[in-house]
Parts: sequence; C-alpha cells; structure tokens
Amino acid sequence: MSQTLLRGVAATSLVAFTIFSATVLYGNRQDKTASASVLLMDAIPRTPERLARGAYLVNSLLWCQMCHSRTDFTRRPTSIVPGTEFGGQILDSEAIGFPSGTRIVAPNISSDSDYGAGNWKDSDFVRALRQGIGHDGRTLFPLMPYSRFRNLSDEDLASVIVYVRSMPPVHVERPKSVIPAELWTGVNSYPMPGPIAEPDKSQPTNYGKYLVMAARCDECHTPGYFEDTPLPGMNFAGGEPFDGPFGPNGTIVHIASLNITPDPSGISYFDEAMFLRTIRSGQAGTRELTTAMPWSFFRNLSDEDLRAIFAYLRTLPPVKHRVDNTEPPTYCRICRNKHGFGNLN
Ligand code: HEC
Ligand code: HEC
Repeated sequence: MSQTLLRGVAATSLVAFTIFSATVLYGNRQDKTASASVLLMDAIPRTPERLARGAYLVNSLLWCQMCHSRTDFTRRPTSIVPGTEFGGQILDSEAIGFPSGTRIVAPNISSDSDYGAGNWKDSDFVRALRQGIGHDGRTLFPLMPYSRFRNLSDEDLASVIVYVRSMPPVHVERPKSVIPAELWTGVNSYPMPGPIAEPDKSQPTNYGKYLVMAARCDECHTPGYFEDTPLPGMNFAGGEPFDGPFGPNGTIVHIASLNITPDPSGISYFDEAMFLRTIRSGQAGTRELTTAMPWSFFRNLSDEDLRAIFAYLRTLPPVKHRVDNTEPPTYCRICRNKHGFGNLN
C-alpha cells in the first residue's frame, strides 16, 4: 500500500473509531448534557423564571449596566440614562488609573443587529462570561469581571444571558478598546469550566461568599486590587481611592472605600438590621454614602441575600485600618493612599 493510502486509511478509521466510541461511550450524551448544563444548548430556553432571575441578578448583584450603559450620577440612587441600557460606553480610563492613550470600551451588548449583540449566539455570551473570550475570538481585557462571573452557577449565568438578550436594541456604534501591551501581562482567557451547580443556600456564610464574589465587594474594598497588587492582609479593609462624579448632584469627589471587616475600625458596630438599612438607603446612620459604592444596585437585593452577605462579612479576619471620608485626606502608611484618618494608622 502506498504511504498516502495508508495515511488515508488510518485517518478514515480514526474518524470511524472516534464516531464509534463517541456513540458507544457517550450514547446518550446529548440528553445528559442537556440536563447537566443548559449552557451547552444552542439556544438557552427562554422561560419566565430565567427572565425574572436574570433581571434580579443583573439589577442588584452584578451591576453590568454601570459599565455597559450611561449612568446618571446626578440622581440618588443613580439611574441609567434612558435609551442607553446595554448600549455600551467608553470608560474613563484615566480616572481608573490607566496610562493615557488607553481606551477601554465596554461594548454595545444590546440586541441591536448592526452595532450590538443582535446576531451573536448565546454561546458567544457564555464564552465571554465564562472564559473571557469575545464574540470575535479576542481575549477580553479583565476589567470585564469574567474572572468572577465564570463562577456563577450554570442556571444563574443562563438567566443573566436570557435577561440581557431580552432588552431592546440600542443603535449606537462603539469603537474598539485600545489597550497598551504592558497592561496585558499575565492576562489569559480561561478554559471552559464543567457544569456549576446551584449554590447551597442552607449555609448562609458560603452562600454569602458566592454573592460577595459575584458582586466584587472585595475588589473595591481591598487597597491595590485595581493596580493588580492587592495589599496582603488588607482584604476588605478599605482605603482604595475613588475620584469621580459620585458626590451630591454628581459633583466630583475624592473618597476612599471603607473598612468593612468586623474590626472596631471597620463595621463591627453594624448589626444585620443596620447593614440592610445602609445598603437600601445609601446612608450609614446620618452619614450619606457617595454613589461610588454601587448601593443603587445592591439596594435591590432581597433580605435573604443581604443577610447572607452580612453573615459572610462577619467571618472575615478583622483588620485594623481607620478610614473616614468625612475627614480631610492624609497619608496612610498602611495602605499607602491618602484618605481621611490616614495619619492615625
Ligand atoms: C467593570 C466594568 C464591566 C462590568 C461590570 C461588566 N462588563 Fe462586560 N465588558 C467590559 C469591558 C471593558 C469589555 C470589553 C473588554 C475588551 O474590549 O477587551 C466587556 C465585554 C463584555 C462582553 C463581550 C463583548 C464582545 O465583544 O464579545 C460581554 C458579552 C459582556 N461584557 C457582558 C457583560 C455582562 C452580562 C455583565 C454583567 C453580568 C458585564 N459584562 C459586566 C466591562 C464590564
Ligand atoms: C465600585 C466599588 C465598590 C464596590 C463594588 C463595593 N463597594 Fe462598598 N463602598 C465603596 C466606597 C467607595 C465606599 C465609601 C463611600 C462613601 O463613604 O461615600 C463604600 C462603603 C461601603 C459601606 C459603608 C461602610 C461604613 O462604614 O459606613 C458598606 C457597608 C459597604 N461599602 C459594603 C459593600 C458590600 C457588602 C459590597 C458588595 C456587595 C460593596 N460594598 C461593594 C465602594 C464599593
């Protein structure tokens, strides 16, 4: 037999073997995966339950719109500028602390067929949210929080996709992101994880952790997180600076995230009821919280979910770190930022 023919036969039988073994070993694979993961289906079935669950998650816990829409910061709570929902925006890269010349664009993911995600498949959303790969195959810049969204249960993620894709089209073209090479160091997309089951709600602290990780409380409340150098031992201890239109009537303020560990310098004095009141009203006692803290979204969380979040925060190691936004900013030797009461640390 000639070499070519041999190779031909080998290839053919390999294909045949693959098909054979796939059929024998995974005979009813299709049924199994369908019940194991709705995310592997060509189209995620649109059900009223998924639509409602997705609306709840996106508008309370996940705050996708803060990046993928225009926000009206003159309002308290903030609202989404009508007609811009999921239509994307160019983010203020300099305010976030990226080098000039960087242009980070949260794309138009509305159902518009020309400029949005109207023609994408559900699997494009699954890949973006689970692996950090865009519909065009590019690795997504990790400011898009896929490192967290990828841990949502299959059913929660399916619900998010069903909801986002149900929203009206926004007919606006957004440019592509321009991100300098130096910001890509260490950035990789992820492999597709296996099916992820529903979180166990009978364990409030575990369930609370699931919620906190998806809401990214720690990203803002841990100094250095956005600079890619979270300070060791400072998880949830505050001090990360925020500059932007977060003050009364959208005035520009310079503030810091607060210490939310159960230390006396943190929120050890909060009880569950005060925590719920604070998140729902954006007001800790008589002190107004600025809108840099996304309480405008978190206020829509159910009592059960807020209680679980609080239960988890209570399990954190207490960290001594005084931060007070009603005081003038001074240098803090612990977190190396300037914030109120920094000089007392
Ligand atoms: C902190 C800002 C931020 C949040 C919050 C956010 N995104 Fe994104 N998203 C981005 C950015 C920025 C990109 C584009 C990154 C790039 O260009 O490399 C992106 C990209 C995407 C893409 C891929 C688009 C494409 O071109 O294929 C999808 C889908 C997406 N986001 C959906 C969501 C959903 C759904 C949520 C909420 C569950 C969400 N995002 C929350 C910033 C954000
Ligand atoms: C986008 C950044 C960001 C995220 C995400 C975030 N926070 Fe905050 N948070 C802040 C900032 C900034 C402040 C301080 C606001 C002020 O003083 O005006 C704050 C304040 C608070 C306070 C008030 C503490 C006090 O002493 O009065 C609590 C409680 C809190 N956050 C809890 C949370 C929880 C729980 C989550 C997650 C569900 C969360 N935060 C997510 C930025 C954030």
